[in-house]
Amino acid sequence: MHIVKAREAEAVEIVRLNRGFHLPFPWFIWDRLNWVREEIREGNFFVAKEGNRILGAICLKISPKEGRIDTLAVRRDSRRLGVGRKLVAFAKRRTRKEEGKRLIVSSFISYGVGGFYERCGFKKSSEIYWYRNQPCHRFRMNV
Ligand SMILES: CC(C)(COP(=O)(O)OP(=O)(O)OC[C@H]1O[C@@H](n2cnc3c(N)ncnc32)[C@H](O)[C@@H]1OP(=O)(O)O)[C@@H](O)C(=O)NCCC(=O)NCCS
Repeated sequence: MHIVKAREAEAVEIVRLNRGFHLPFPWFIWDRLNWVREEIREGNFFVAKEGNRILGAICLKISPKEGRIDTLAVRRDSRRLGVGRKLVAFAKRRTRKEEGKRLIVSSFISYGVGGFYERCGFKKSSEIYWYRNQPCHRFRMNV
């Protein structure tokens, strides 16, 4: 498996992947084609591939101090095989390379994937945060 920058031609497939965490709210942008295309253009999307097949995708934004995972999704038939962990490790390396000090991610509690982030080395904040009307947890790790 290798992880490379996503190409514009892969936008539709990433949208399909990201539908795996769709929530039915009008403000939910993370599986919209325009949003995905724009992030690919900005160089923020990376895909984990086996040959030509996309197994997972991550949207990572790095500001001077920290990297932030905006989205992370693994194909349903490729879950629990370590792909998500490898994408997180990739985000960590890339953040460190760009001299960020920490990696953060927010996740809606309704996804129930907090355990995954903790297994990958993130610490969960004790507070609950709200994005619009949806509670989320924040996770962070030093890189
Ligand atoms: C969450 C997600 C990215 C995990 O990817 P994955 O490739 O299945 O995860 P991995 O196989 O790398 O798992 C790494 C570790 O986390 C654990 N784990 C994986 N999914 C988990 C979950 N839903 N809850 C708790 N632990 C989980 C694994 O058992 C493994 O633990 P280990 O230390 O025993 O090896 C994937 O399930 C997914 O795409 N879900 C739908 C999209 C989503 O909810 N994304 C998050 C949006 S914020």
